[in-house]
Amino acid sequence: MRNRYFVVMLFAFFVACRNDVSTSITPTPSDGSSLTPYTLNIPPRFPKPYLPDYNPLTVEGITLGRRLFYDSILSSNGRSCSYCHHQNLGFMVKNSDIGLAPGLYPNIPALINEAWNPYYGWDGVFPDADHVAIGDFGPMFFNSNIVNVIAKLKADPTYPAMFKKVFPGQDVFVDGVLQERVAFALAQFVRTIVSSNSKFDKYMMGFTQLTPEEADGYDLFMTEKGDCFHCHGSMLFTDNGFHNTGLDSVFDGFNRGRFNVTGEAKDMGLFRTPTLRNCALTAPYMHDGRYQTLDEVIEHYNSGVHKTATIDPIMTLPGKEMGLLLSNTQKQHLKAFLLTLTDTTILSNPQYSRP
Ligand code: HEC
Ligand code: HEC
Repeated sequence: MRNRYFVVMLFAFFVACRNDVSTSITPTPSDGSSLTPYTLNIPPRFPKPYLPDYNPLTVEGITLGRRLFYDSILSSNGRSCSYCHHQNLGFMVKNSDIGLAPGLYPNIPALINEAWNPYYGWDGVFPDADHVAIGDFGPMFFNSNIVNVIAKLKADPTYPAMFKKVFPGQDVFVDGVLQERVAFALAQFVRTIVSSNSKFDKYMMGFTQLTPEEADGYDLFMTEKGDCFHCHGSMLFTDNGFHNTGLDSVFDGFNRGRFNVTGEAKDMGLFRTPTLRNCALTAPYMHDGRYQTLDEVIEHYNSGVHKTATIDPIMTLPGKEMGLLLSNTQKQHLKAFLLTLTDTTILSNPQYSRP
C-alpha cells in the first residue's frame, strides 16, 4: 500500500496549501465574472447535497471538467478518469478488466450521487470531492509528468480559453496550481452525475408497482428481519457512515479501513457504507471486491459475519447470533429488491458522456 500512502501524502500537501490558494483565486460568479451558475438537479426526497462555497458549480466549470474527465491528456500512460470510471459500465470498471493488481488497488467505486457524499474513498481518506483527483496525477494512476501536461494543454486549440474562462485572472498552467484547478473542474462535473431513475424511484413516485417478490424483498430490507435499512437507508441507500460489517477477523493493510485515517482503535475495520443504487451493475463488491455476486454479499450478511471488537452492534443484535437466518426464497426476494435500484439511463445519458 506504499503507493497509496504516497498519494494520500500528496493529497495532504495540497489540502495544506488549500487555504493559501483556492480561497483567494477560486472563481465566484458573484465577483462579476461571466460564469453561469448551475443548479444541481436534486431528485425527490433526496437530502441536501454538499456543495462547497469554494468550488461553486458553473456551466463552464462542468464543461471543462467533463472534457478533462474523458481526456488522456492529463496522463503519461494513456489513461483518463473514464479508464476506471467508465460511463457504459455505471462509472466504474472491474480492477481485473484493466489489469490492476488486486490488493494494491481498492475496488473502483461508481461515481454516482457523489454530491451527497461527506467523505470520499472507501475509508473516507478524502474529506472533499474537490481534491480527490490531485492524487490521480501520481505514479499509481496517471503517472503524469506535469511539465508535459502543461505543455500539451497550452498547445491545445481550446483548453487555454476554457481554463481562462473558468479561472479568470489566474495563471493555472503552473505546477502545483494546475493540479488543483483540474481537480476542481473534475469535481464539478462528477457532482452533476445524479442517478435517480430506477424502478424503485418510479415506484416511490407511484408510476409503477413492485412485483410480489420485490415487495417482499423491500420489506426484508426495511425491517429488522434483514436490517439493511439501518446503514443503507434513505433515498441515497447509504447512511454515509462508517461500519465494520464483519468481513474479516484479522486486520492488516487496507482492510484496517477507517483506522488507517484516524488511528483510533474504535475505527479498526470500518468502511464507508456504499450506496446500493446500481449495485446490479457494480460487481465486484466491498472495498476489496471480494464478492463477485449479490448472492455472495447477501450470504455474507446471512451467515458469514465475523465478530470482532469493532463489529457494528446492528450485526449482533439479539436473535442474530447465528446470522439473519433467511430462507433461500427470502434471499432471492432481497436480491430482487436490490435489482430495482438499477438506473440504466445514466449509462447513456448524453449529459455525462464523452464530449
Ligand atoms: C487507475 C484507476 C483510476 C483512475 C484512472 C481514476 N480513478 Fe477515481 N478511483 C479509483 C479507485 C480505486 C478509487 C477508490 C480509492 C479509495 O477508496 O482509496 C477511486 C475513487 C474516486 C473518487 C471517490 C469516490 C467515492 O465515492 O469514494 C472520485 C470522486 C474519483 N475517484 C474521481 C476520479 C477522477 C475525477 C479521475 C480522473 C482524474 C479518477 N477518479 C481516475 C480508481 C481510479
Ligand atoms: C452496519 C451497517 C450495515 C448493514 C446493517 C448492512 N450493510 Fe451493506 N454495507 C455496509 C458497509 C460499511 C459496506 C462496505 C463494506 C466494505 O467494503 O468493507 C456494505 C456493502 C454492501 C454491499 C456492496 C456494495 C458495493 O458497491 O460494493 C451490498 C450489496 C450491501 N452492503 C447490501 C446490504 C444488504 C442487502 C444488507 C441487509 C441484509 C446490508 N447491506 C446491511 C454497511 C451495512
